[in-house]
Amino acid sequence: MCGIIGYIGQQQAVPILIGGLKKLEYRGYDSSGIGIINGKIIVRKTNGKIQNLQDLIQTHPVPSSTIGISHTRWATHGAPNKINAHPHSDNTGKITLVHNGIIENYEILKKELQSKGHKFESETDTEVIVHLISEYYKNDLLDAVRKAIKKLKGAFALGVICADHPELLVTARIGSPLIIGIGKNENFIASDVPAILEHTRKIIYLKDGELACLYKDKVDIFTFEGKSVKPKIDEVTFSIEAVQKQGFDHFMLKEVHEQPDVLQKMIGFRLKKGEVVLEGLNLTEKQLQSIKNITIVACGTAYHAGMVGKYIIEHLSGRPVNIDVSSEFRYRDPIVDKHTLLLAISQSGETADTLAAVREAKNKGAKVVSVCNVIGSSLARESDGVLYTHAGPEIGVASTKAYTAQVMMLYLFAIKLASIYKKVSEKELKAIISKLKQIPQAYKQILDHKENIATMAKANSHFGCFLFLGRNINYPTALEGALKLKEISYIPAEGYAAGEMKHGPIALIDEYRAVVCVAVQSETYDKMVSNIQEIRSRKGKVIAVATEGDQTIQDHAEHVVFVPKTHPLLTPLLAVIPLQLIAYYISVQRGCDVDQPRNLAKSVTVE
Ligand code: M6R
Repeated sequence: MCGIIGYIGQQQAVPILIGGLKKLEYRGYDSSGIGIINGKIIVRKTNGKIQNLQDLIQTHPVPSSTIGISHTRWATHGAPNKINAHPHSDNTGKITLVHNGIIENYEILKKELQSKGHKFESETDTEVIVHLISEYYKNDLLDAVRKAIKKLKGAFALGVICADHPELLVTARIGSPLIIGIGKNENFIASDVPAILEHTRKIIYLKDGELACLYKDKVDIFTFEGKSVKPKIDEVTFSIEAVQKQGFDHFMLKEVHEQPDVLQKMIGFRLKKGEVVLEGLNLTEKQLQSIKNITIVACGTAYHAGMVGKYIIEHLSGRPVNIDVSSEFRYRDPIVDKHTLLLAISQSGETADTLAAVREAKNKGAKVVSVCNVIGSSLARESDGVLYTHAGPEIGVASTKAYTAQVMMLYLFAIKLASIYKKVSEKELKAIISKLKQIPQAYKQILDHKENIATMAKANSHFGCFLFLGRNINYPTALEGALKLKEISYIPAEGYAAGEMKHGPIALIDEYRAVVCVAVQSETYDKMVSNIQEIRSRKGKVIAVATEGDQTIQDHAEHVVFVPKTHPLLTPLLAVIPLQLIAYYISVQRGCDVDQPRNLAKSVTVE
């Protein structure tokens, strides 16, 4: 995915664009660029982070302008270099644009345009769009954009400007997020709210199939077919601080620390008098009764949350739960019908594979409920019901608070189902709810000891390979710990169900391997300890995550991190916190870019 921001108004565009790009850098950071109008189109672009663009503009200043577009890229088509960076301009140099998304039929379009004499500079799919607009341009920019986008297959959010029309910025979207910010004598486009939050809180979420003309004092919205649309203006409620580091070295660490508050708020909002209230679910009790099976789809960290969800929902509701990574689900002719509830989990709500899986399930008649963080996202809009996690903006590429909020939502959902299906006794349900309420406090206790975790993590940061082991409901915790470590420290790390060790992975163990074992209280605790002994007898270094009060674990491990005691079913919520911190401190120790790891982007809006 990429980030775009555009401005039209009375202020100088460049500082607003650069400031906005910095807020969007989490969406991609391999190259960036800006385009403004001052009599003609002027473009500056470069590879690397936004700082490089800022430096370039210092050495090669642009003239004053009150209109401009800009882009930070996560490369899909073409290497991350200056030529492939956006904006891309047509051969007349009059029109330039920025794009987030993928144009699937760009090769055919490119050939057609080349046969008509268009000269291409870059390897990108994006460049065909600006040549198409140029082909249709007869002094009416909106008309040319409309005609061009009709030819496109794929996903796009666009910002287009033309030297002949310094009073106009045109935007359009299908499949990629785009918001319009309404200011006083100024208007904005952006991929996400943080980019424009310091300028306005009045937001229009442009819908798929809509395009808009932004002038400094008005915004006109149309469907692709040309019908005028009355915009709905929303007021953003989260604070500017929510998108700042607030004294933390990294967004990831700040977001780890936000988890107790996020979960506390969820509990306050969703648990009323011992009953779960799932506002947004949009399913009646009768509809919930008629569900025969549940399928969960998600990617990456959200998938691990879904794996925890499978354990909880099956245990508490007795309904069978299938789970698939979204990218596999849609290509395997899944067995889903009107009796299936599809749970789609996604922080961003823009993950292309998850959206595609949802569409596949809907075509087969399933009801879709999403667990989503970003309000108004594509996933939320396409679902029959949406359970917002309200975790606030997550900027660190490595997901932390979104994960625990997703897991918390799945507990709440499972408890709701349990209260309807009566699979477990009221007494057990009450015990779980009462322990659930104590989780935010338990988080604080773990975070109070983070310095110990930091010391231990740094002391182990030299290992060239890590294994993460867990069993049962904490098998997904192990997978999540491994993903966190590999994505921000680049250390090869694998998560396994501990029982699988003997079936192959144990061959990896020697004195150069560190093995993180989730050995919290559970019915499989003894088996986990046996696995630990097997590792130690082969000289592997064991870091254990265990439950406070465990007197024996220290005899089996080099290092132990304790988490407070809770209901066994709730242990994944606690055991993951040390794993997030271990990954964080190892990454810091190795000098890695924690918030913006190489090759990654916050959400993956391409398949
Ligand atoms: O926005 P989503 O939750 O759909 O994103 C899914 C994954 O791309 C995401 O969780 C990814 O794995 C994170 N980088 C993990 O930290």
